[in-house]
Amino acid sequence: MNSFEKWYCGSALWRYLTRRELLPWMLPGSSLGDHLLELGAGSGAATMELARLASRVTSLEYDHASALKLSTRANHAPGRANVGVIQGDAAALPFPDSTFSSVLAILLLHHLQSPELQDRAFSEIARVLRPGGVFLAFDIPNAWIHRVAHIQSTFVPLELATASKRLTAAGLSHITMDSRSGGFRIRALRVA
Ligand SMILES: C[S@@+](CC[C@H](N)C(=O)[O-])C[C@H]1O[C@@H](n2cnc3c(N)ncnc32)[C@H](O)[C@@H]1O
Repeated sequence: MNSFEKWYCGSALWRYLTRRELLPWMLPGSSLGDHLLELGAGSGAATMELARLASRVTSLEYDHASALKLSTRANHAPGRANVGVIQGDAAALPFPDSTFSSVLAILLLHHLQSPELQDRAFSEIARVLRPGGVFLAFDIPNAWIHRVAHIQSTFVPLELATASKRLTAAGLSHITMDSRSGGFRIRALRVA
């Protein structure tokens, strides 16, 4: 991540937008169940709100310093004993099969360094979801403004035209994708 992304994703504005706009757009119609896995949690813009909505949250983050910081925050947040933070890679998840009732990824997919790693992450998501569990993602399209915002960072935008085929190949079904200004959401179920 470059300095702009670190600043923006750690800002009170992004936390506010995540809580007030993004999650209310992503979550309706989906049950998070008893154990949610959050992938690419970053500074935790969504984490504490998710902890309010799900009985248990495991937040995974690749960057060691960010994972440590979020873990410290979660440990000190009153009444949030249901959050566990772990350092790890979304493309090689350190969990047994069928562990989670839901998986959520906000602005993670374009940070995976190649389409092959994205496919590996989709397979891992399907593997760790219980049958019938839900995968929810929000990400940004291949637009000049996002390419500029990711100078000196990773930006591998997901091709929406082929995304459904790739998610199906990974073992997900009932895939829906739709966009609104600024980004798109994905919902998919682990094949029962
Ligand atoms: C743009 S940030 C979004 C953070 C957070 N979801 C938010 O909305 O503020 C993307 C995050 O994904 C993390 N990330 C990148 N590659 C990853 C991987 N392979 N596995 C897990 N996390 C990863 C980055 O370190 C970064 O914290």
